[in-house]
Amino acid sequence: MIIAFTGQKGGVGKSTTAICVAACAVELGHRVLLVDADPQGTARTWGEVAQERGRPSATVVAMGATMHRPGQLRQLATSYDVTIIDCPPRHGDIQRSALMVSDVAVLPSGPSATDAWALAGTLDVIREAQILRDELRACILITRKQSRTALGQSAREVLATSGLPVLESELGYRIAYQEAIAAGLGVTTFSPRDRAATEIRALYDELERFYHGKEISGCYITQAAAG
Ligand SMILES: Nc1ncnc2c1ncn2[C@@H]1O[C@H](COP(=O)(O)OP(=O)(O)O)[C@@H](O)[C@H]1O
Ligand SMILES: [Mg+2]
Repeated sequence: MIIAFTGQKGGVGKSTTAICVAACAVELGHRVLLVDADPQGTARTWGEVAQERGRPSATVVAMGATMHRPGQLRQLATSYDVTIIDCPPRHGDIQRSALMVSDVAVLPSGPSATDAWALAGTLDVIREAQILRDELRACILITRKQSRTALGQSAREVLATSGLPVLESELGYRIAYQEAIAAGLGVTTFSPRDRAATEIRALYDELERFYHGKEISGCYITQAAAG
């Protein structure tokens, strides 16, 4: 299972979520590869801090725009149960390369309608990739949500019009995410009883089901249904 966290906007939680999902998979006993595809290197730095702690963690590697080529990531990923790619916050060769090799693309979005509008460009890139590879499954994840506000509700409605499924799992805006990353851990290890940990476990579970073909209630046109 290869999952890419992608999208054009920075600061929406791609790296944080990718790292926490990877760490959650490690805790569940999976062999996990975390690919840092962002030159900014958030995941790599986290990996260094994690290694200093000397606890079982994901293997972290940096890869770029050639990761889709034969003998690259696909081959490396065969030694792991789960591969997570943290993409850079812009469109370009690296993002396209990640979409050529992933099974699932997750588009994190903030909880406001303007966050949802910012996904438009990314949706085009996803559709292009799905024309080349109709096995690529893509979904939207609402992150950094402050509470169950009316604003959050409307974001879900705007996001649902994108044609991509919006995951039922949502991540709240919680300090535990920031503290866990700084400590070289995922939230499920850092504070296992925090609501953040519960959210990440639910997200991991939903991503696995999505990968295995689960349809998300409501709202989407798959490539196949679109003909
Ligand atoms: N669910 C969350 N709750 C609180 N803070 C978050 C959450 N997700 C991300 N952040 C914070 O938001 C900022 C941007 O997150 P990051 O994961 O680096 O985004 P991206 O990779 O999309 O640029 C960071 O300071 C991070 O700690
Ligand atoms: Mg990032």
